[in-house]
Amino acid sequence: MNHLQTPASSTTEITTVRDASKVYAQGDRQVEALRHVDLTIEQGMFVAVMGASGSGKSTLLHLMSGLTHPSSGQICIAGVDLASMSDRQLTQFRRDRIGLVFQAFNLVPSLTARDNILFPLFAAGRTADETKVNELAERLGIRERLTHRPDSLSGGEQQRVAIARSLITDPAIVLADEPTGSLDSVTGQAICKLLRELCSEQNRTIVVVTHEPSVAVWADDVVVLKDGGIVERFQASEYGDAQSLAAHYQQVVGDREASLV
Ligand SMILES: Nc1ncnc2c1ncn2[C@@H]1O[C@H](COP(=O)(O)OP(=O)(O)OP(=O)(O)O)[C@@H](O)[C@H]1O
Ligand SMILES: [Mg+2]
Repeated sequence: MNHLQTPASSTTEITTVRDASKVYAQGDRQVEALRHVDLTIEQGMFVAVMGASGSGKSTLLHLMSGLTHPSSGQICIAGVDLASMSDRQLTQFRRDRIGLVFQAFNLVPSLTARDNILFPLFAAGRTADETKVNELAERLGIRERLTHRPDSLSGGEQQRVAIARSLITDPAIVLADEPTGSLDSVTGQAICKLLRELCSEQNRTIVVVTHEPSVAVWADDVVVLKDGGIVERFQASEYGDAQSLAAHYQQVVGDREASLV
């Protein structure tokens, strides 16, 4: 069976965030990083989360990944309530069902690209799936780079390795925090095209946090956060190109933040 042409799952798995809030203590102060967020993401959707610095984007992603618990509210990933699991079950669920991609790639410097991709399987005590690594590498255009260590890969290649690593377990959802933030715009667009194809061709569910309208324009839906709350959700296709999307985003977040975009 070719994993790359197979939908992530044959059933429809919905991801939901219900009335989720997160309060952090900063010294004597309480910071409400997220306020009563509701979000429903169908399987196979590509959602971009936009918002100014400090608006709660990473906090939302951390809650969805189970790395942080909400102060109140409920998070269900692919139909599973994260709060219903023990710490051990949650660790296992996160490893098997959630793919994480970060701005800083977070590859292990001493391992080759191949072993970095296989890392989640090794961590789970599972055997290496060489066929799958090769298929993923082919799909992501890094087949020739598998024996290289991260320091001899370009930024775009390192991010492709990180994306392959996030997909090796066939996760229900891929959560990416500013995945193009460290890349030049051409490489960034190639990564966006790849994420788009993973959704469209393989029914993957992808949530990408980004500041960049040129990234958000690839998504199905754009969710805009402001001061910890969702202020709007719209279809990227309504705005056709990055410039029109940016203009709408600026309108939504208001003039002060618009100047930062
Ligand atoms: N671990 C933490 N402890 C205390 N406060 C935190 C913590 N993490 C985030 N915050 C605060 O919560 C708010 C939201 O932060 P978050 O990192 O989610 O923003 P962001 O939208 O991802 O910003 P950026 O675009 O700069 O990455 C900020 O005011 C931040 O200072
Ligand atoms: Mg952030």
